[in-house]
Formats: sequence, C-alpha cells, structure tokens
Amino acid sequence: MNNIKFFSRSNLPIEMHKVRIVQKLNLIPIEERKEKLAQAGNNTFLLKNRDVFLDMLTDSGVNAMSDRQQAAMLQADDAYAGSESFERFEAKVKEIFGTPFVLPAHQGRACENIICRTFVKPGSTVPMNYHFTTTKAHINLNGGKVVELLCKEGFELESDFPFKGNIDLEQLETHLKKGNSAFIRMEAGTNLIGGQPFALSNLKAVKKLAEKYGAFLVLDASLLAENLFFVKKKESEYKDKTIRQITAEFAENSDIIYFSARKLGFARGGAICTTNKEFYEKMKELVPLFEGFLTYGGMSVREIEAITVGLDETMDEDVISQSPLFIEHMVCKLKKAGVPVVTPSGGLGCHINAGKFLPHLKSSDYPAGALAAAFYLISGVRGMERGTLSMDRDENGNDVPSDMELLRLALPRRVFTLSQVEYTVDRLTWLYKNAGIIGGLEFFDEPKILRFFLGKLKPVTDWQDKLLTAFKKDFGDSL
Ligand code: F0G
Repeated sequence: MNNIKFFSRSNLPIEMHKVRIVQKLNLIPIEERKEKLAQAGNNTFLLKNRDVFLDMLTDSGVNAMSDRQQAAMLQADDAYAGSESFERFEAKVKEIFGTPFVLPAHQGRACENIICRTFVKPGSTVPMNYHFTTTKAHINLNGGKVVELLCKEGFELESDFPFKGNIDLEQLETHLKKGNSAFIRMEAGTNLIGGQPFALSNLKAVKKLAEKYGAFLVLDASLLAENLFFVKKKESEYKDKTIRQITAEFAENSDIIYFSARKLGFARGGAICTTNKEFYEKMKELVPLFEGFLTYGGMSVREIEAITVGLDETMDEDVISQSPLFIEHMVCKLKKAGVPVVTPSGGLGCHINAGKFLPHLKSSDYPAGALAAAFYLISGVRGMERGTLSMDRDENGNDVPSDMELLRLALPRRVFTLSQVEYTVDRLTWLYKNAGIIGGLEFFDEPKILRFFLGKLKPVTDWQDKLLTAFKKDFGDSL
C-alpha cells in the first residue's frame, strides 16, 4: 500500500504507475444505448464493446499489462513441446508457491474441469466457503454437490467484518465427519459475495481439519492478489510480513492451487500446481486431452511469458494495492451518497446491493439484472448481474433465488482513472434517486446451463422509456 499523504488531508488513492498506451473511448447517446440494450436482450454480456463507455463487466482478461509484460511477450519461445517460455513460467510458479508440480490450462474453468473430473465422483460433496458459477457447474457435471459453508457474517451485505470470505469451521467439521467430501475448496477473494477475502488463520484452521479427517484442500487463487493485500492490511499477525511470505503461507496450507491467470497475473491463461506427486500424475493425463501439450496447455506462449512477469509483479504491494484502494474509494463515495453498496469494500469491483436499491422488485423480476440494464442505459457503463439470473433453475424448472442480488461494477486492475470512477459514482447516485422507475425483466430466450451468459430478456413494462425521459429531463443534451 502506498503511503503518500496529502497536505489537504484528502485521502485519495494515488496510482503507482503511469499510462503509456491508451485506448480511445466512445459514449454513444442514450437513445442509441436503449436500442443496443434491446438488441442485447438486456443482457450486458451480449453488448458490443464499441457500444460500451466504461467496461466494468469483469476484471477477467482485461487488466492493464506492464511494460515488462509486453517486453517479455516478444521473447516468447514458440514450440509445441519443451518451450522455454513454459520453463520460465513453471520456475516462477514454483518460486512463488513452492510447488514442484505445475500443469498449464487455458483458463480457470479449464483447471476446474481437470480437478473435478479427477476427484469428484457421483454422490460426493465439495464443501467450500462459497461457490463460483463455473466451479459449481463442473462439480455438478461430475455428479457432485456443492456444500456452501460461508460464515454467517459473509451474508450480511453491509458490515465491517474484515473477512467475510471465511468458512464456518464448526459446520465444516460436522460436514467432514460424513466422509463423502471429494475435497474442500477455499476461494480467495470470494467472487460472488463481493470479492471478499478470507483470513489466513481461517485457511490454516481448514487445513488442520482437512488433515484430521483425511481430506485435502484446493485453493482457488484466481483472486488471490487482493486477498493477500487484505491479509497484510487487516490481519495483524501478518502486517510485517512481505507479500511473498504471506503467499508462501497460503501455499503451505493448500494441497492443490489453481488460478485463472485472466485475473492473477494480469494476462490470459491458467494453471494448477501442487506438491503432491500422486495428484499431479492423476490430473496430468487430462491436460493433453482437453488443453494441449504439457508445455502450453492451451495458452499462447506470449501469454505464458506475460503471466510469468505478472505473477512476479503480484508480489509487489504497490501493484496489488491499486485495485482494492480504488474500489475502497468508490465504495466510500457511494456510501456517502446513500447508495446501498456492499461493505467493507473487497477486491474485484464495487458491488451494489440491488435488492435494497430496488426493494419493489421480487427475485423473479431479476433485480440485479434490471439494475445492470438500467445502469447501462443511463451511463454507458457495463456492469454484471450477480444474483438470481446467475443461478440456473432447479430440477423442477423453478428459479433459485440467490442469497444476494448484486450489480457488480468490476475495476479491471490499473485500467480506469479516478475521474472515470467519479463519473460512475455520479450516474449511480442519480439512478438511485430515480430507482422507483426501474421495473423487472423476463426471459424470452433462456439457456439451461449458465443462462446468464447468453440468455435474452425484455422489460416487463415500458419502464426503460420512462427512465430515458427522466434522464433527458435532468441531463438535457448530455450524453
Ligand atoms: N474462479 C473464480 C474465483 C473466478 O472469479 C473465475 C472467473 C473462475 C474461477 C473461472 O476462471 O474465467 O478464467 O475460466 N471469473 C470471471 C469473472 C469469469 O468475471 O468473475 P476463467
């Protein structure tokens, strides 16, 4: 965390990098945004990037790369087998996590495919702090069942509890006694509850329980960078340890680590690593089948080089603090403006509590989806629904109401400036004052699996016309 104080006592996060490559942005007029939204079936995944002003859909694969990463990409060694780029990558993963065995994969869910196919059997369970969409889909596909054991504080959207991603240890012990767990999964920077970290002490306790009951622990390290930062900032025992030392402790307390390098490492790819040779041998066979040869695993060698440098840069506190500090700034501003937002601020992005923002909507109206659509309409900012729409229907075809209805506004690492964050806060504040206008959405084209990616919806009334009229009244000819 940078320690630069302002004379004015303002508490602004200051960038510890400078911008040397830029990409021009466009903001199309609101009337056009309304058309584009309808064409996209009110699903922000289906918008064209050229029609988006600030893309806060995700932090995945869209982080800014450093000059060192770009330079490394030029020295990539293109070879199907035995590439030097992979050797450098493998050596960096070993150095950081201390794991002798490394398997490459093209992204995070590909790692999940390999892990779940190897270890999840019909009837087995996977206890975890909280699920992620693709993880759950892979566990279910292999006949397993996700058992979420998040601590009760994790469900409180507005709180000051520092580690809402913690698992409930008592519940975990009760579950492990049943003896049907394929493995325990801990997700760093727990995505779907607002990018919330877990404490290193919690992980250590989980590891002890795993050993006691003969289970093993899989760490999803996709959002590890911010979790590391929060452990250093909030867990007093670790405040004087370096990020490298904290990372080593995370690794010592995990049996298998996997990550999406679209997040961890600021590039595009993924990997699984372990100290357990037997696990490695079992998983290894699936890599050439699903990913590619063991020295590229579906990644381009250029990306492999970029990830190697990106992982090294992740060990620098100035680098990994930028995103959580910007998110904290955004959350504080929104909170001051009275907009319901998940607190404390986590990693990944700012999460708006759509349930509270739109109390007049039921979960079957898809409040988080409606808010994502409304926000794009009035700002050109693309966020992501993280609520009931992101849950697939149960076996009887009923909606499964989500624990939380969130609009996620991701801040890809080192991409947006503070004035762009201020614009987002401004438009959200306006929308909150006009929230009563926003109505629900309904599907007219609904896929069975991971429906949020490709499903199409329409507004249940003419609320979008009314929102446009209100916007015009207040903003005149402003875009
Ligand atoms: N695990 C976590 C915690 C994730 O956040 C993601 C992806 C994955 C696994 C899967 O990785 O996309 O490389 O296959 N999260 C993205 C997001 C999609 O936008 O939050 P992937």
